[in-house]
Amino acid sequence: MDSHNLRFSSCDLLILLLLVTLLLGPVCSSAPTLTECNFPAIFNFGDSNSDTGALSAAFGQAPPPNGETYFHSPAGRFSDGRLVVDFIAESLGLRYLSAYLDSVGSNFSHGANFATAGSTIRPQNTTIFQSGYSPISLGVQFTQYSDFHTRSQIVRKQGGVFELLLPEENDFPRALYTFDIGQNDLTAGYKLNMSTEQVKAYVPDVLGQLSKVIENVYDQGGRSFWIHNTGPVGCLPYVMDRFPVTAAQIDKFGCASPYNEVAQYFNLRLKEAIVQLRKALPLAAITYVDIYSVKYSLISQARKLGFQNPFLACCGHGGKFNYNRFIKCGSKKIVNGTEIVIAKSCKDPSLRINWDGVHFTEAANKWIFDQIANGSFSDPTVSLSLACHRMEP
Ligand SMILES: *[C@@H]1O[C@H](CO)[C@@H](O)[C@H](O)[C@H]1NC(C)=O
Ligand SMILES: *[C@@H]1O[C@H](CO)[C@@H](O)[C@H](O)[C@H]1NC(C)=O
Ligand SMILES: *[C@@H]1O[C@H](CO)[C@@H](O)[C@H](O)[C@H]1NC(C)=O
Ligand SMILES: *[C@@H]1O[C@H](CO)[C@@H](O)[C@H](O)[C@H]1NC(C)=O
Ligand SMILES: *[C@@H]1O[C@H](CO)[C@@H](O)[C@H](O)[C@H]1NC(C)=O
Repeated sequence: MDSHNLRFSSCDLLILLLLVTLLLGPVCSSAPTLTECNFPAIFNFGDSNSDTGALSAAFGQAPPPNGETYFHSPAGRFSDGRLVVDFIAESLGLRYLSAYLDSVGSNFSHGANFATAGSTIRPQNTTIFQSGYSPISLGVQFTQYSDFHTRSQIVRKQGGVFELLLPEENDFPRALYTFDIGQNDLTAGYKLNMSTEQVKAYVPDVLGQLSKVIENVYDQGGRSFWIHNTGPVGCLPYVMDRFPVTAAQIDKFGCASPYNEVAQYFNLRLKEAIVQLRKALPLAAITYVDIYSVKYSLISQARKLGFQNPFLACCGHGGKFNYNRFIKCGSKKIVNGTEIVIAKSCKDPSLRINWDGVHFTEAANKWIFDQIANGSFSDPTVSLSLACHRMEP
């Protein structure tokens, strides 16, 4: 269409816009300011990006030097320190989440963490020993949550210490429900030698299963949902090492494009699924958080932000990325009768983004948290502390 055919000139439009803004301005600013949610608890579902001890409790501890920076010993996390979910808990004034599966020293008064490293949304048809994926898929995590909900209330009635270790019934509808899962569903297809087209083809099924779990949590009273999309998996050493691509498929920052495109496809469909969920669940406040963009901007601007090579694992052994899937972070070897660690930590993890080829360092996690906390990467643009308010995006 030719611009001369337009009824208004761009100048008229500008004046009109200005008038509308002036007229609506007072109406908008008189809208009540939102009150802080004061979430009494967090219930988290996910994979290793947010596992605070479940896989360690069930299948053996993450070895040192995991945990070295903040906890000064292994703390069930695949990182040198805190994860994004830890910073979320801290910022809401809550203690770090105990893993539901961890029977030693746990305190669930302020929530529970059902995430396990290697978890997928869809149950896999392989064992953890074959493929490395956790048997605690999202459906199992929901079953554990549901069981926790019911049984915690029965046990709490016994009083005494149980009242100090378990949440009140009233905390469940007021809690924040966080999700960070899906990355492993994408790599699972590639491990089965599927093409990108084949992986894309099952994404709707994966998201259907995620939606179902969110509906089930809602049916149990959950109202506030904070859902991370999936990160740029094509920028991670373990993916680039395991599934090499051609030079033409490496983007200008050094990431493997095909895997990032699949992640973006997943995220597009996730966003659509959330639009549908908002319609289906009228009392839910569902926040979609664009972790992909945050992680990608961190990796692509690493040096500008004060970090070193974003692809070099801090803790690992050899190869282009200081990553070898057979000699993972903390691996030991016996030399002349003495055990020595051959996949050690780097000198200063605070300058690294990648911890072990798969996971992020505490410094990276802190940066990621700082970006998402105020809602600038959220849809709708709601900050973490206000995420109980349902707003139209
Ligand atoms: C596992 O096998 C079942 C039965 O063949 C199939 O329906 C399902 O999609 C498979 N799951 C995955 C993750 O491949
Ligand atoms: C569990 O944590 C809560 C919240 O920090 C605290 O009030 C409670 O005393 C703790 N329970 C025990 C048994 O230490
Ligand atoms: C995938 O392909 C590789 C190389 O051809 C083969 O060694 C491996 O067994 C295949 N994996 C599966 C699950 O089919
Ligand atoms: C192991 O011991 C032998 C004999 O004492 C020595 O020659 C060799 O250098 C030692 N290897 C290492 C890695 O320390
Ligand atoms: C949100 O926080 C980040 C990191 O501190 C900051 O760069 C950004 O400007 C903030 N955005 C808004 C809308 O306040």
